[in-house]
Amino acid sequence: MARGDALALLHLGARLPNDEDLVALAAAAARGRHENQPDVPPTGGLLPDPRTGWRGPLLAEFDLHGQPVTPRWRELTLQTTPDRRTIWADWKDEALETHLRISWTMDAGDVIRTRAQFIDTGPRAIDERGVVTTRCASLLLPLPRGFGHVTHFAGRWADDMRAERLPVTRAGLSWASRGGKSGFAGGDWLAFDDAETGAQLGFHIAATGDHEVRIERNDDGDAVLVAETPVGVEGRSIFDTPEALIVWAPDAATLTRAFHTHARARLARHPHNPPRERRVHFNTWEACTFDFDEARLMRLAEDAAMLGAERFVLDDGWFKGRSSDRAGLGDWVPDPVRFPNGLGPLIAHVKALGMDFGLWVEPEMVSPDSDLYRAHPDWCLHEPGLPRPTERNQLVLDFTRPEVGDHIQACIARLLRENDIAYLKWDHNRRLFPLPALGTHSGRLDMMWYQLRADFPDTMIESCSSGGGRIDMGLLGRIERFWPSDNNDAIERIRIMREWSRFMPLEVLGSHVGPSPNPITGRRLAMDFRAKVAVFGHMGVEADPARMTDKERESLAAHIALYKQWRSVLHAGDLHHLAHPDPNVTGMMVTHEDKALALVAQTAFSPVFDAAPVRLAGLDPQARYRVTLPEPWPPRARHYLGDPDAWRAGLVLSGAALMTHGLALPLTHPETAWIIALETIA
Ligand code: GLA
Repeated sequence: MARGDALALLHLGARLPNDEDLVALAAAAARGRHENQPDVPPTGGLLPDPRTGWRGPLLAEFDLHGQPVTPRWRELTLQTTPDRRTIWADWKDEALETHLRISWTMDAGDVIRTRAQFIDTGPRAIDERGVVTTRCASLLLPLPRGFGHVTHFAGRWADDMRAERLPVTRAGLSWASRGGKSGFAGGDWLAFDDAETGAQLGFHIAATGDHEVRIERNDDGDAVLVAETPVGVEGRSIFDTPEALIVWAPDAATLTRAFHTHARARLARHPHNPPRERRVHFNTWEACTFDFDEARLMRLAEDAAMLGAERFVLDDGWFKGRSSDRAGLGDWVPDPVRFPNGLGPLIAHVKALGMDFGLWVEPEMVSPDSDLYRAHPDWCLHEPGLPRPTERNQLVLDFTRPEVGDHIQACIARLLRENDIAYLKWDHNRRLFPLPALGTHSGRLDMMWYQLRADFPDTMIESCSSGGGRIDMGLLGRIERFWPSDNNDAIERIRIMREWSRFMPLEVLGSHVGPSPNPITGRRLAMDFRAKVAVFGHMGVEADPARMTDKERESLAAHIALYKQWRSVLHAGDLHHLAHPDPNVTGMMVTHEDKALALVAQTAFSPVFDAAPVRLAGLDPQARYRVTLPEPWPPRARHYLGDPDAWRAGLVLSGAALMTHGLALPLTHPETAWIIALETIA
């Protein structure tokens, strides 16, 4: 609501009646003056004015000729689109000839997309710098009172998305992601909660690179959330921030559905993005890392097809000189030793087996031991004359140089033109240093993705960054799949999937059956458990079938068949996380039209013989459902099942009974997972 030149946030919560008197609401929210405060209350709101005695954070800061300057933002105008879902607030400073805009759009899922734009409008000579912004936030949000706690997601490689709930104290909170990617430990995904009402406020900054998010609380009790990306040391005379998303929901389940609706709308509205069934992947990485030749890959493809895989993804190691992670990045041509006739024969074999073909690339990087580096040693981020620090033995290409991005884009386009490639796993395994190339890097990358998707609409792209290091809503459309973690250990993965799926729908989250023992944790896990966990995502296999027993292959094939049978539900429905008194039992469930599928998994040894019944969620209390436990059943736990025949025949129960009484399932031993299938009875 505009008050003079100030813009106040009156209400962020449940929908109010259309005829609510906003002036009365503003009066009801107005505060009087206390001791030790300015006589006229400072202007806060969405664009706080420091001249009025506001001591909190500012939306943006500015310099003129190297000196800080505080524009006087005047002439506030508000415009809306005819559907009133977008509102623009514009201010000018006539004397400084500058313009600031904040826009809010109520988008799919009732998710609000917001951003700020700054333009120095003065008619200046090319070499004359006027006002520049030195920082400009996507969002400055006065937090509605009551949101006294926030859940954030810290992590590291192979331990992505550890949720932690913190009080919003007077000391404030802050997060930063540095190094050119959004994860593992930034503040890009937050869920505030109101402990009294259960209401949630979700927040996301859709920035592919660095960001800073902080919450400041003042002595009056008000808290402000600020989210921004770096502007660059020089400042910018034109700056358009990335989008921040905010969404209010009455509870956590509704918050998740709002994010999922939003993510699905973004996927669907992208021009180069036909809706696609999520095909079962077979990925070579944990099956053979760098240890393969064409013959082994052909055998792997045959075994993968026997299991029911629909896409064969050749991971790292296929390109020139790449026999380890010490060489080859930058040379995006098939290794002549491993593939004397190029990728053609392998792709033909894969296609003859009824699968399509996917390929791993890491185009933003270069190995010092590569033809590209030898030809263009100055194409990486570096400081002349100084050592070039590596990470994972690799350097980052300098996308501030147009010829570098053009060359890489041409290499990938050639690869896609010359080979029948349905999918690219686009990896990014090191931070950007020793020089920052932040906005330019992600900007160039985005253009590249956009162009590649336009030119090759049948090739979908996955974003991987040593696992979930680069996942954001802004990518959806150009990117159709994310790799949530390098950790395929199902006990770890089920937690990671649960956390990512608070924000992203299952169909964009890769979920693979890895080998046992797991190469990262060393843990051995039964195939039944690994496979059931992988069903709840975009399923894949990343283990060598030749190293599995017959029973394991049989179990895996049965779960792949189950996934195919249920993916239209899993990838279109509403996700519910199931609560259980045992913290080691994780449950999730997807309801869609007249069907639902649930997964419950015990990851530790239960202190009691009989676990509490699993209560389902999201059902119609009045409807009747046929409930079955699709086989194969977990090998040990099946012996503790009360009445196996009744489960095979199916139990008919009301939604009310399923959600209040629940189902008594054997969930005592670690590595026990059950899948529960429900169908409405007409
Ligand atoms: C990264 C990815 C893995 C795999 C390897 C290959 O670590 O996250 O999934 O592709 O690179 O080097």
